[in-house]
Amino acid sequence: MIAPSILSADFARLADEVAAVKGSDWLHVDVMDAHFVPNLTLGLPIVEALLKVTDIPMDCHLMIEDPDRWAVGYAEAGAHNVTVHVEAAADPVKIARDLRAAGAKAGLSIKPGTPLEPYIEVLKEFDTLLVMSVEPGFGGQSFIADVLDKVRTARNLVDTGHLRLLVEIDGGINADTIEQAAEAGVDCFVAGSAVYGAGDPAKAVAALRDQARN
Ligand code: DX5
Ligand code: ZN
Repeated sequence: MIAPSILSADFARLADEVAAVKGSDWLHVDVMDAHFVPNLTLGLPIVEALLKVTDIPMDCHLMIEDPDRWAVGYAEAGAHNVTVHVEAAADPVKIARDLRAAGAKAGLSIKPGTPLEPYIEVLKEFDTLLVMSVEPGFGGQSFIADVLDKVRTARNLVDTGHLRLLVEIDGGINADTIEQAAEAGVDCFVAGSAVYGAGDPAKAVAALRDQARN
């Protein structure tokens, strides 16, 4: 699966930019609050507006403090998958249950320096594990290959039936890095600059998908 990140899109033409990646598996929307990360992007009103103009299942990545309070609103609005950061969540299990009760899939994200092991039990409540392969906050950063160990561990836990979730990776995914991520066992690849920095975003999505399959 390929999930274009609109962080690298033209924010003045968001509806057109979303239409330009028609056929993508998920649409990745980065919500940043200038507290959990040193950048500010968009919030629920813009997510609600985008939900009206696209059928692509929306993947909301909340890089915000107090997701315990805010995450469920994105599920109620109609997001397909809502991901919170374990570093910010006070009660991730309750968040996951609230998200699922509101009809969304629940995602848990870990920053590059956050280990996976302490959260394996908690992940039983989640549908998605989002492994960050850059420090969250900005598009266009370089891929941190060290995080692939966590991807391999997660893949193994899924393949052996200990966890049931989709393994997603976010940050620095492009033609040079997607194959190693695919080999490590990623199911869903977020790509921002590699998609919206390309002349034809839809073509870039198709090319990444082909590369991930090989
Ligand atoms: C970074 C965001 C990413 C970002 C990825 O904090 O979570 O989704 O858009 O951008 P690229 O693909 O350019 O690294
Ligand atoms: Zn993201």
